[in-house]
Amino acid sequence: MLSLLPLSALLGLTAALQSEKAAALADCLSTCGVPVNAPGTADWKLDAAPYNLRLNYTPVAIAVPTTAKHVQDAVSCAGRLGVKANAKGGGHSYGSFGLGGEDGHLTIELDRMNKVVLDNTTGIATIEGGSRLGHVAFELYNQGKRGFSHGTCPGVGVGGHSLHGGYGVSSHTKGLALDWMIGATVVLANSSIVNCSATENPDLFWAIRGAGSSMGIVTEFRFNTFVVPETLTVFVALVRWGTEEKALAGMQAVQEFAETMPAELNMRLFITPRFINLEGLYYGDKASLQAALAPLVNKTGATFQLQQEGGWLDQIKHFGGGLSLDQGHPYDYHETFYSSSLYTNALNDTQLKAFVTYWFKYAKSNKRDWYVHIDLHGGKASAVGKPDSDSTAYAHRDYLFMYLFYDRVDRGVFPASGFGHIQNFVSNITESMTATAWGRYINYPDPNLDQSTAQATYWGGHLSKLQTIKSEVDPLDVFHYPQGIMPAP
Ligand SMILES: Cc1cc2nc3c(=O)[nH]c(=O)nc-3n(C[C@H](O)[C@H](O)[C@H](O)COP(=O)(O)OP(=O)(O)OC[C@H]3O[C@@H](n4cnc5c(N)ncnc54)[C@H](O)[C@@H]3O)c2cc1C
Ligand SMILES: *[C@@H]1O[C@H](CO)[C@@H](O)[C@H](O)[C@H]1NC(C)=O
Ligand SMILES: *[C@@H]1O[C@H](CO)[C@@H](O)[C@H](O)[C@H]1NC(C)=O
Ligand SMILES: *[C@@H]1O[C@H](CO)[C@@H](O)[C@H](O)[C@H]1NC(C)=O
Ligand SMILES: *[C@@H]1O[C@H](CO)[C@@H](O)[C@H](O)[C@H]1NC(C)=O
Ligand SMILES: *[C@@H]1O[C@H](CO)[C@@H](O)[C@H](O)[C@H]1NC(C)=O
Ligand SMILES: *[C@@H]1O[C@H](CO)[C@@H](O)[C@H](O)[C@H]1NC(C)=O
Repeated sequence: MLSLLPLSALLGLTAALQSEKAAALADCLSTCGVPVNAPGTADWKLDAAPYNLRLNYTPVAIAVPTTAKHVQDAVSCAGRLGVKANAKGGGHSYGSFGLGGEDGHLTIELDRMNKVVLDNTTGIATIEGGSRLGHVAFELYNQGKRGFSHGTCPGVGVGGHSLHGGYGVSSHTKGLALDWMIGATVVLANSSIVNCSATENPDLFWAIRGAGSSMGIVTEFRFNTFVVPETLTVFVALVRWGTEEKALAGMQAVQEFAETMPAELNMRLFITPRFINLEGLYYGDKASLQAALAPLVNKTGATFQLQQEGGWLDQIKHFGGGLSLDQGHPYDYHETFYSSSLYTNALNDTQLKAFVTYWFKYAKSNKRDWYVHIDLHGGKASAVGKPDSDSTAYAHRDYLFMYLFYDRVDRGVFPASGFGHIQNFVSNITESMTATAWGRYINYPDPNLDQSTAQATYWGGHLSKLQTIKSEVDPLDVFHYPQGIMPAP
């Protein structure tokens, strides 16, 4: 019947249904006493603005809970009205998944829930689900000179970060952020609230350590912490690989070194059109750093630009890109970019040659502001590889390298013709690999991938178990986003 209506009438009808649904949702949230941002207000604009301005989506409503009960009520309203709902933690998803990755979702903005409390006798930290990493580090240090391992940007949310991995300049020594998680309080799709840990709802606990965004909304985390070391050394060493031959030999040396480098060393190769650096963090003093890096310095001719001893917060500030540490609400930093990622083991000669050839022959002619990070993620001494590879939903513990490909414009719009730079970079490296010999990181997602390709590369062999758990905790896919886990078919 509808198909006989003129298109304009059909669109009008759809819009009318949408606005009816928006009104019903607003009504439900208001009846339950859930705080919201009114459309058009400054807070609405701030909370709806994604980190990646390339991917703007319009929520149907923005709830701003301050209690777990508010989160339960917001999820209940969404479920009742058939609206998709997503937690937004720090809002740093490269695919704007905190907004649902498409228009018309209920955004549950958590960044007003950011209490961090350290029990400094047990070392257990209780952290609300919308806290940002800089705030977490700042509080744990001030409350007991403790911390845990996580990524570097102070505005990133502990939620999205630790529910999908959480790799940083401490990870080779101390593991992923999710390795420090010992429990969480989760609002499920039917609006019930449960705890999970190794002994309570263990399947849910397994699933949220790698695919948390699809399973529920974490209102509170419990993390173990360690007493932070007194002396660490940050370093930057420049390598000058002006020719393909030098880059090939250099990459070869880096990957041989990565296999056996000491646990105390954390390092990445940072490739840009203007410079190539080895940079990272050493758990120890400057002399020990120099001794640890000497074999690689010898082979690559790297020259130190910086070797700076300091304490825990000094290194966090260094890698925080100049932002102040204690980030909360409001937070208003943005970029316009396209990105993708990769995990591989050591590249063989064919793959190394493909990498370097693409880099020198094609990538260098891209005049946008692009870079590639290659984190030395695995290797014999890496703490990331120590837990069993199936112990959490994070599927990629055993890979040597984690790559981030990032391509941005400093102003204006990212061009539609621009995607090939990264897509071809990745496919040139993986061309000679079988599909199971590489993966991608959901925290560095490629929003251009279709759903099944994305899921297979993010979760690999864990996908079917995740779909089974999803069927139990969110059978109607309330927490939907375009690349998330779907209930088992
Ligand atoms: C500048 C910058 C630097 C980065 N550096 C690193 C790094 O060093 N290492 C690294 O590993 N990653 C890094 N990332 C990636 C980052 O870890 C991911 O983008 C992460 O998902 C962001 O989490 P968020 O809470 O800020 O994002 P959001 O966009 O709010 O959320 C991301 C996803 O997690 C879900 N989510 C968030 N909070 C919760 C919650 N409490 N309960 C349930 N689901 C939730 C959202 O629904 C969404 O699907 C960086 C990103 C940026 C922009
Ligand atoms: C633990 O916290 C208490 C109260 O804030 C403080 O007095 C004490 O010094 C802390 N202990 C450590 C080891 O920091
Ligand atoms: C979850 O555990 C915390 C800490 O032990 C406790 O305070 C809380 O009441 C528990 N919540 C639920 C829903 O069981
Ligand atoms: C590297 O080490 C070798 C063997 O110890 C030495 O002969 C050579 O001079 C060193 N090269 C550099 C650049 O330090
Ligand atoms: C590299 O590995 C791929 C995939 O296994 C293989 O096809 C290729 O021949 C290898 N190249 C070399 C030089 O070993
Ligand atoms: C490698 O990159 C080139 C240049 O962009 C591209 O034409 C080619 O299709 C890529 N090869 C693969 C296998 O993706
Ligand atoms: C909510 O879902 C969970 C997980 O499926 C289930 O155990 C629980 O019984 C449900 N609660 C209600 C009130 O339906």
